[in-house]
Amino acid sequence: MKIAVLPGDGIGTEIVAQALKVLEALAGDGLRLEIEQAPVGGAAYDAAGDPLPPATLKLARAADAILFGAVGGWQYDQLPRAKRPEQAILGLRKELGLFANLRPAKVFPELVEASTLRPEVVSGMDILILRELTGDIYFGQPRGMRRLDNGEREGFDTMRYSESEIRRIAHAGFRAAMKRAKKLCSVDKCNVLETSQLWREVVTEVAREYPSVELSHMYVDNAAMQLLRDPKQFDVIVTGNMFGDILSDEASMLTGSIGMLPSASLDANNKGLYEPIHGSAPDIAGKNLANPLATILSAAMMLRYSLNQDRAADRVEAAVARVLARGLRTADIHKPGMQQVGTAQMGDAVVAAL
Ligand code: IPM
Ligand code: MG
Repeated sequence: MKIAVLPGDGIGTEIVAQALKVLEALAGDGLRLEIEQAPVGGAAYDAAGDPLPPATLKLARAADAILFGAVGGWQYDQLPRAKRPEQAILGLRKELGLFANLRPAKVFPELVEASTLRPEVVSGMDILILRELTGDIYFGQPRGMRRLDNGEREGFDTMRYSESEIRRIAHAGFRAAMKRAKKLCSVDKCNVLETSQLWREVVTEVAREYPSVELSHMYVDNAAMQLLRDPKQFDVIVTGNMFGDILSDEASMLTGSIGMLPSASLDANNKGLYEPIHGSAPDIAGKNLANPLATILSAAMMLRYSLNQDRAADRVEAAVARVLARGLRTADIHKPGMQQVGTAQMGDAVVAAL
């Protein structure tokens, strides 16, 4: 199996290094992985003047799966948009057709106390957010800035979804629900947006093919509220690119920390890119403070979805649970009475628990 490893910027290199330790430990047990690294994001801009250099894209295309860290940094914020680090992740998603983004938000029993919500609200919560990843206002044309007749500037973006784009993510949502508690909640803004009107119609049509799945619809503002009020009412949430971006950050805090949430971005053949949902956190980069567990859990998702190594994936997830049960915590999830450890120590502890 060929794995392209793209650590990126900020804490990206530190957290990816921990996930690689875990994969190497599994290699000792006969898992054969061919790993090749390439720069991406700001690191690639610095090295090659391009956040997604052709060589990096080529490596990603040729790989069976991609392990991605994070991109971005304040020093790149003034660059023209096409050169900014974020274009690398957006470009990879689009170029590789990674339209289905799985963001599981599950509370480890050990971390119930780390959430800002009351334990009885989050305990036992297990949500899968399925975010459409290659359409919507993120990619819709036209977009830009223009000068109006009265001389002031106007910025504009286009929210759009075609029927086929909605249909394929809806199918992915129903299939995911079939493997879980068979409840699918489609989130839109159908009371205001035409895009959402079509979204709701198409999801409702697709539902006929999955009679055993209970489908509900929810407006995105209500969904944001319900996630805090009663997150356990949700099983699978399917939604568009921008609503999914926002709701998945919100859901991460229910689990205690954004440093815990992995993700998988899959194409139609389950080739995937695996990354933590958090960003590059330049403020804590290089300080051995970042939580590597979201990246390690992303590597577990890679084993499960792209490499068909369910047993190895189970082992990694169990090792993470064991380390948490032993009381090891990075700063973001630390509570009095627990043992605070750094990024590298957390990685080592997961390897030892394996
Ligand atoms: C995410 C991130 C990205 C997004 C950024 C870095 C472009 O927030 O993966 O959720 O908006 O999709
Ligand atoms: Mg985001």
